[in-house]
Amino acid sequence: MVKVNAWRLGTEHIVDITGLTHDGMGVGRIESRVLFVPETIPGDRVLARLSHIKERLAYGELVRMLEPSPNRREPSCPHAPLCGGCQLQHMDYQAQLHWKRQQVADALARLGGLEVEVLPTLGMDEPYHYRNKAQLPLGKKGGELVMGFFQQGSHDIVDLSTCEIQHPLITKLALAVKRVVGDLGIEPYDEGRHAGVLRHAVIRVSFLESKLMLTLVTRTRELHRQGELIARLTAEVPELVSVVHSINPQVTNVILGRETKVLWGEACLYDAIGHLRYAISPMSFFQVNPLQTKVLYDLVRERLKLSGRETVLDLYCGAGTIGLYLADRAGRVIGVESVAAAVEDARRNAELNGITNADFFAGRAEEELPRLVRRFGTIDAAVVDPPRKGCDPAVLEALSGAAVPAIVYVSCNPSTLARDLSRLAELGYQAGPAQPVDMFPWTRHVETIVLITKKND
Ligand SMILES: C[S@@+](CC[C@H](N)C(=O)[O-])C[C@H]1O[C@@H](n2cnc3c(N)ncnc32)[C@H](O)[C@@H]1O
Repeated sequence: MVKVNAWRLGTEHIVDITGLTHDGMGVGRIESRVLFVPETIPGDRVLARLSHIKERLAYGELVRMLEPSPNRREPSCPHAPLCGGCQLQHMDYQAQLHWKRQQVADALARLGGLEVEVLPTLGMDEPYHYRNKAQLPLGKKGGELVMGFFQQGSHDIVDLSTCEIQHPLITKLALAVKRVVGDLGIEPYDEGRHAGVLRHAVIRVSFLESKLMLTLVTRTRELHRQGELIARLTAEVPELVSVVHSINPQVTNVILGRETKVLWGEACLYDAIGHLRYAISPMSFFQVNPLQTKVLYDLVRERLKLSGRETVLDLYCGAGTIGLYLADRAGRVIGVESVAAAVEDARRNAELNGITNADFFAGRAEEELPRLVRRFGTIDAAVVDPPRKGCDPAVLEALSGAAVPAIVYVSCNPSTLARDLSRLAELGYQAGPAQPVDMFPWTRHVETIVLITKKND
């Protein structure tokens, strides 16, 4: 039962939370209007105060929990709920999997107007310490050095002491970086004044080799006392094998600068997914959850059912990881990626694994694809794994124009997946069941994979 007061700022309402937004906020209704309440989950009954009102919807603050959802849990991380790294720390893991599936189903039905079966989300048995990469901003708060993650929806830094989703070696190095940077008096970046030096510490770990890469991102060209910094860090954290400097003088939210050089040690890390080894350089995209990446890539193999003779496109290929994973089942693999350093990694990865039937091209998928179709002729299958904004319409049209019979779409954003599947439906394709995979436990994110096939005319 919902008690309705006037729809005015500051009024308090009893609300049953029945849904969850894609960014992890609880959703309830007051009569026919929608109310979003942060820190709530489906099944909660709460007292909420209206804090921001629009015509048909409003945002509320949680005043009091009246009846908690049976799926509520006490967050096990001391940084929840402030830290923007995780949004679902207060939700039971099985319930997260359920809601991620629901999110995909809602997007496909409501935004895409599609009737597609959505399978239960494939989760992790041990959904902790799964991440191989952290991007940690540095700054000052009350005159003290802070380093950690941005608070949800802001650039306030939550000072990190522990993290349940990062690999433990990442946390070990992060704490050492903060301590040594503080000891050496290296100035952190001041975002408000665009002053100071050290903007971010980007840390990557190889799960295979338990080795670390640290990229120090500075506003300035110079990083003073860098020799002492490296000496102290490598002594304190022997797993650190690579220190990289990235210079980013711009006023921007983009973390890495254009200019990157190795200061000390190795130029890349090596990790494995299933039967393959991969080199990862500082600028390349690499999936952040290696265990679930194997689940995802195995699904791509299984969905495509290649015979060994096909020409397969890997669009948005990053370091070539998916295409190479398919190479032993394909006649030829052709990868396209816009970051030149990642294309170099892809070529090196082919060599590393003795793969000779894969070619990688640097460029935008929408520009390269028509050229590649002309050059290679028949394309038997394609994998697309675009960033959150989805595929450029020209990519979908070129795939359809080349009559590619089977496309596996790997998506990290259900909304753009829905939009692109809907466009592919107009172009004569039909989607098979959508399989959500939980690559990011405790966060709002969900990965989805769908096989799309050309309908017979
Ligand atoms: C979600 S990642 C997928 C990478 C890879 N498939 C994997 O599994 O590791 C998306 C990749 O698309 C690249 N990218 C972004 N826009 C692009 C475009 N217009 N054309 C080609 N690649 C693009 C990014 O640099 C990034 O490597």
